Amino acid sequence: GTTLAASAAERGRYFGTAVAANKLSDATYVGILNREFDMVTPENEMKWDATEPSQNTFTFGNADRIVASAQANGQRVRGHALAWHSQQPGWVQNLSGSALRSAMVNHITRVASYYRGKIYAWDVVNEAFADGGSGGRRDSNLQRTGNDWIEVAFRTARAADPGAKLCYNDYNTDGQNAKSNAVYAMVSDFKARGVPIDCVGFQSHFNAQSPVPADYQANLQRFADLGVDVQITELDIEGSGTAQADNYARVVRACLAVSRCTGITVWGIRDSDSWRASGTPLLFDAAGNKKPAYTATLNALNGG
Ligand code: G3I
Repeated sequence: GTTLAASAAERGRYFGTAVAANKLSDATYVGILNREFDMVTPENEMKWDATEPSQNTFTFGNADRIVASAQANGQRVRGHALAWHSQQPGWVQNLSGSALRSAMVNHITRVASYYRGKIYAWDVVNEAFADGGSGGRRDSNLQRTGNDWIEVAFRTARAADPGAKLCYNDYNTDGQNAKSNAVYAMVSDFKARGVPIDCVGFQSHFNAQSPVPADYQANLQRFADLGVDVQITELDIEGSGTAQADNYARVVRACLAVSRCTGITVWGIRDSDSWRASGTPLLFDAAGNKKPAYTATLNALNGG
């Protein structure tokens, strides 16, 4: 293939990007988006603060713009994210206990129902595990409603949109470590008890302190062996030139080597679109030119 999406499709995968609604009027951005990608993730527009700014008042305008653009261009959508400790509106931050639990269930039901039939996969729960070696849950207002909040979120999402794949998504779980071991144990438990989970997302935000792990492929494979799809959901890699290009190629080859790795999403299009305030972690430069990392990614998708 001659584009990321076409080349990925030849390997039975998708190739996606995060999209910001306020960039859909940028012709350079939209040109690359619709040429290269066949999956989109709203970068912020489906989060709780964006979709339910006050309790039981839902606002889908910006998310709808992204979904409409995707549908018009033959792209699928990864929904992101239904339940997360971050980017909660103020009214949620002020809730606890059963009131917060009820608000979470209502939020998931309303948002996933609104988009029923339009979402390939939902990040149902995002970043619920602690960093470091504890192997425990992250302390958060949602966690303090009870350890079962994650399975309640998944069961609620399944009821609201039975056709969407339901994913758990996290960072620093890309290699085998205490955090990914804890997620692995949860997924294994969910599969054993019939809690509906279809996929695990590996964000894959890499830099010098957090490089592509040596056991990346092995880690993806052990999750796939639990009977879930695995997806690379927020890929970006700090650096430049050949070193960055080689790292992108390694990530692509790892996914292609795992049959249940169904796709790769980069977290933005041009370096200037990245959430990282500085740096050059993406596949296109600020002018929209293809970087060496782009060429290495394309070649790896094409088997090079
Ligand atoms: O839209 C408001 C604007 O009205 C306001 O004036 C401005 C002032 O701060 O903020 C704008 O909102 C910002 C928003 O991005 C949209 O640009 C928020 O401050 C800013 O915090 C938010 O950052 C996002 C971040 O998640 C928040 O946690 C990034 O764009 C987004 O790329 C990032 O994405 C996360 C994933 O969801 C989860 N995994 C990690 C990843 C990277 O942090």
